[in-house]
Amino acid sequence: MTTQESFLIEGGHSLHGSVRCSGAKNSILPLVAAAIAVRDTVTFQNVPDISDLQSLLTLIQAMGVKVVSFKDAELVLDTRGPIATRVENTNGYSLRGTQTLVGALLAREHRAMLPSLGGCNIGARPIDLHIKGLRAMGTQFEWREGYLVGQAPALKACDVYLDFPSVGATENLLLAASLAEGTTRIFNAAQEPEVYDLISFLNKAGARIVPVFPFGFRIEGVNELHGASHSIIGDRIEASTLMVATAITQGETKISGVDARHVWSVIAKLRETGAVVEVEGDDTVTVKGVPDYRSTDIRTLTFPGYPTDAQPQMTAYLTLAHGNSVVVESIFENRFGAILELERMGAHIKVADETAIIEGVDSLNSAIVQAKDLRGGSALVLAGLAAHGTTTVKSIYHIDRGYEALETKLAQLGGHVTRVNQMEA
Ligand code: UD1
Repeated sequence: MTTQESFLIEGGHSLHGSVRCSGAKNSILPLVAAAIAVRDTVTFQNVPDISDLQSLLTLIQAMGVKVVSFKDAELVLDTRGPIATRVENTNGYSLRGTQTLVGALLAREHRAMLPSLGGCNIGARPIDLHIKGLRAMGTQFEWREGYLVGQAPALKACDVYLDFPSVGATENLLLAASLAEGTTRIFNAAQEPEVYDLISFLNKAGARIVPVFPFGFRIEGVNELHGASHSIIGDRIEASTLMVATAITQGETKISGVDARHVWSVIAKLRETGAVVEVEGDDTVTVKGVPDYRSTDIRTLTFPGYPTDAQPQMTAYLTLAHGNSVVVESIFENRFGAILELERMGAHIKVADETAIIEGVDSLNSAIVQAKDLRGGSALVLAGLAAHGTTTVKSIYHIDRGYEALETKLAQLGGHVTRVNQMEA
């Protein structure tokens, strides 16, 4: 018997009040890798306390990085000492956030050894584009005893075209190119806000990166980077989750700490359903949900299109819309993991390949459901908030990977969500 944490969610309480978003999960993970390339003391503010970050910190401490302090959302790292180039999967937990350690280690030590990557169970998630780009810069790769081994005695600048604007591949190339000899250009680079956040930090640390029209970056390599301090952007996916949570409970909330330009697609889609969404100042969005909201269609795309990380939450919302909705998932091939569980709660959804067709129902019922991945898990929490009765969401360690105290924020808004320990056979 082992214990597992679950959420118990008493549905039917609409969300009201104000809440502030934490810093972005998808910023802090590559930023920690960037700190290694910097080889100095770095300070990050607005850092989310999420388990993916804790796992990454454990892993880099084993490599020789000093975590000087992590309190009040400020993280100080000292990466001046010797650093092991082999990344050990000590806790048996594979972490997609380690992918940018490749670029950082190659830039700093000219060598990197990584175990196979993990993260959410949402698709094959190959790293061919990372390898293609880093190879073009002079890295030799081979697989040795389950490790990807990269060696680059001298990283040389080059022109790289990404067949797909992969976030991780773009970040790895930005890191490697920052300390390479010459000027690198990345074409068809990812344009996600977290990529720009990484660039903003790297430039503060002495890198020379500029955007080039259209959709690329030019990186003039420098000999070394230096310590810097950086406050990371708000988490647009957490903001999107809270916005949809408000709409599905027909509540009214003010969500601050997020740049509204980063959540425009979600704002647009909520408005299409009839929800009232307004932007206040630079960093606040207000949401007012309405009863009998309309269906809509979404297609996930790279930024500024609708984010794949906010697709399961919108899918949960659309199960209760008036009419039929079509959701097309075009980024990850296996991101409908929450749908079977939503059906157990009374949702009507048909899935064919990358398309889900949702026939709106009048109500959802409570059930015992299982989080299978991070964002799918949060979608089940939203469904639970709107369902009749008390829903149990199991395996919430998936949710803790990327949300800082989700239940506390929802409770602050009047949601009835409690974390409990349950015995598992
Ligand atoms: C990052 C985010 C993740 C988000 C995703 C898309 C982090 C830690 N994670 O993941 O939350 O869902 O961006 O916005 O920042 N691909 C290839 N070959 C490659 C690389 C990617 O085929 O070498 C494919 C993937 O399988 C996927 C698509 O490209 O289908 C998008 O992946 P990518 O943009 O690389 O996402 P991640 O960086 O893994």
